Amino acid sequence: MKLKRNRLLVAALLALAAAGAGAEPLPEVVMHKDPNCGCCGQWAEYLQANGFRVKTVMEDDMQSVKRRFAVPQRLTSCHTAKVGDYVIEGHVPASAIKRLLREKPAVAGLSVPGMPLGSPGMEVPGKKDAYDVVAFDKAGKIAVFESHR
Ligand code: CU
Ligand code: CU
Repeated sequence: MKLKRNRLLVAALLALAAAGAGAEPLPEVVMHKDPNCGCCGQWAEYLQANGFRVKTVMEDDMQSVKRRFAVPQRLTSCHTAKVGDYVIEGHVPASAIKRLLREKPAVAGLSVPGMPLGSPGMEVPGKKDAYDVVAFDKAGKIAVFESHR
């Protein structure tokens, strides 16, 4: 009996070690969304499937949230999230967020403006828009972070 318990303990420790191998744990994503919008929830589920913990905060007035987080007007989408000190606006792919956290560029955040079809959480069978993930800084300077074609 004692041996079996030890074996379980060893298995649990090995699993923990494997999960943590080579990577810092991903910070929590705090997503602000309108309760009446559904695609935000799809994006949150997608992020969870890609290893992020996601906390959802319901908001009555997303425009004021975007002003509070200084998201440039022309970059706005539906939901607005915070991960560490970065702002994540709209349907940004997990790979882009992971690269942001890894490379830590001097930007305020990332955005996928609008709601392109085929972006994470906006999947529609047979429809795929080309879209850019753009980085923005506090001064409103915008640069393409990565392109999805
Ligand atoms: Cu959306
Ligand atoms: Cu939405």
